[in-house]
Amino acid sequence: MRLTYLGHSCFLVRTPTATLLLDPFLTGNPLASARAEDVTCDYILCSHGHDDHIGDAAAISKRCGAPIICNFEIGEYLNAQGLKTAALNPGGGADFPFGRVKFTIAHHSSSLVEAGGKITYLGTPCGMLIHAGGKSLYHAGDTALFLDMQLIGRGGLDAALIPIGDRFTMGPEDALEALDLLRPKVAVPMHYNTWDPIRQDAPKFAAAAAARGHSVNSLKPGASLEI
Ligand code: NI
Ligand code: MN
Repeated sequence: MRLTYLGHSCFLVRTPTATLLLDPFLTGNPLASARAEDVTCDYILCSHGHDDHIGDAAAISKRCGAPIICNFEIGEYLNAQGLKTAALNPGGGADFPFGRVKFTIAHHSSSLVEAGGKITYLGTPCGMLIHAGGKSLYHAGDTALFLDMQLIGRGGLDAALIPIGDRFTMGPEDALEALDLLRPKVAVPMHYNTWDPIRQDAPKFAAAAAARGHSVNSLKPGASLEI
């Protein structure tokens, strides 16, 4: 499984049989390493309804014919636009041709703010657990630290993608505790440095994690990691 970081919480994941795009947010993302128009994928996975996680989902799904794997409410919202979706909710999983996706809990919110400040609520926020090609990958979505992360890590994780930005999600201190609970072989920090309010020192976080026995790879946008 090959992970390419596209900036913020967006990753392109190449499994042996399919390319998955996680939390597509490239248009308007100052750190994006690719343009939405240039990304191709077979499936799109969205953790929750905030624009910095589903912003480019509809356009890329339409262009590539890629179904969007998301929670039930986002699924209904996108179905109404004529998009192909596959809905899951926390604790539920489903088999796809490339492998299995299970949604987990996440502590956050999941609304879409539309023109004029109208808020459409798009279900519950989720984390995403992907098993493909014999590898396991956890994308935490946007979340606070929660003790049940020890359940998510209990089957062994080849990689965990965890937010460290603070303010809207865990910050670095809580993310270190998340690693103690998840115990992935490698962790990649995400959801930081995109804007000033979530600026963080990723090398400092990686060093603190190493001191606790965790391996952190602070991928720069555009960089890849084979797990
Ligand atoms: Ni969010
Ligand atoms: Mn976010």
